Amino acid sequence: MSIIENLKAYEILDSRGVPTLLTEIILDTGIKGCASVPSGASTGIHEALELRDKDKKRYNGKGVLTNIDIINSSILDAIQGLDVRDQKNIDSILLKLDGTKNKSKLGSNTLLSVSLAIAKTASIIDDVELYQYLGGINTNFLPIPLVNVINGGAHAYNNLDIQEYMLAPLGAKTFNEAIRWCSEIFFNLKELLKSNNYSTSVGDEGGFAPNFKNNYEPLEFLIKAIKKSKLNPEKDVKISLDVASSEFYKQNKYLLSASNKSLVSDKMVDFLTDIEKKYPIFSIEDGCAEDDWKGWINLNSKLSHHVYIVGDDLFVTNKNRLEKGIKINAANAILVKPNQIGTLTETLDTISLAKENNIETIISHRSGETEDNFIADLSVGTNSKMIKTGSVTRSERCSKYNRLLVIERNNNNLTYAGHLLNV
Ligand code: PGA
Ligand code: ZN
Repeated sequence: MSIIENLKAYEILDSRGVPTLLTEIILDTGIKGCASVPSGASTGIHEALELRDKDKKRYNGKGVLTNIDIINSSILDAIQGLDVRDQKNIDSILLKLDGTKNKSKLGSNTLLSVSLAIAKTASIIDDVELYQYLGGINTNFLPIPLVNVINGGAHAYNNLDIQEYMLAPLGAKTFNEAIRWCSEIFFNLKELLKSNNYSTSVGDEGGFAPNFKNNYEPLEFLIKAIKKSKLNPEKDVKISLDVASSEFYKQNKYLLSASNKSLVSDKMVDFLTDIEKKYPIFSIEDGCAEDDWKGWINLNSKLSHHVYIVGDDLFVTNKNRLEKGIKINAANAILVKPNQIGTLTETLDTISLAKENNIETIISHRSGETEDNFIADLSVGTNSKMIKTGSVTRSERCSKYNRLLVIERNNNNLTYAGHLLNV
């Protein structure tokens, strides 16, 4: 009753209007499950590679019809007749079929759409919620949402170098309250921006994206918006940053155009430690560039005792890169994006390695998303204490928050992780 009979893949659109994949698993009983995959804009150079048609006559070369052919032929041949609950075996077959280190033959998008759809279908067969299928009976938390309310960098056409300014609602008692706070702050921020004649149109992840005077000004706005919402920026809601600094690291210098500065690694770390001194910062993601390991060690040694130093482009959800980072003390948290690595099994392996070494895991969306909310269940199923999935507007972002609201409402055994990290 859980045998894979057929696969069906579709070319659909992501939140930026770019094609992506939706893959459906069809079992011998006719039961179906499906998953779609996201796509990044500020991708790290060490990420697994997406496969795209490169046919300039369709979707500017970004079509995924080649991927659909692969799913319908070689992948179907390899996994037809297998038990859908045999995730590890199926993922290892996918990896063997690809056979490359960076998934350049079949594409991480191709592999992931199948891998995630397998897990979803298996949870339907087992008649359990996806997060329970992934985590068994040992699921304990609802994650702190890191809610991106100001967009810059590669996600907006404005002058901010820092890509994401996020709210970290640590002091809430429940996930539900955390989301309400963030929504209220979002609208107070909108009022404040409007009254200063700043644009309130939004960037790729649903946060506001006006031009600012410099990289500090958004922090001032955020503090005001938090206070206007009758919340405390030290205790209730702190601020998280994704600097995404690999994007502006050129010839060993960090080029901060909003401040008209070009900083060597040590000075970049000083710039970030100075921000941390002045503002209630909860976490800093990609404060240094993807191969500036020395900068990471420096930043981590300065701030890791009270700030999460998060590796995104640095680790790219890759076990080997995380292993190196652990050895040399480069960070104390990892951003986990399944499409950076390509299969669910590899994603879970990286999460396990992080946990064994007291590295916090933050499950994350991509800037180009779909309505698929797999990562919400992944965050609960892996006891991750944080999730990063954009603003509280735009349905492809809200679908993850909405799923977590439903999970919280239906499971009294899960507690909101805010109090665990509110130190
Ligand atoms: P991306 O951005 O999906 O465009 O890579 C998200 C991030 O950098 O965290
Ligand atoms: Zn990032």
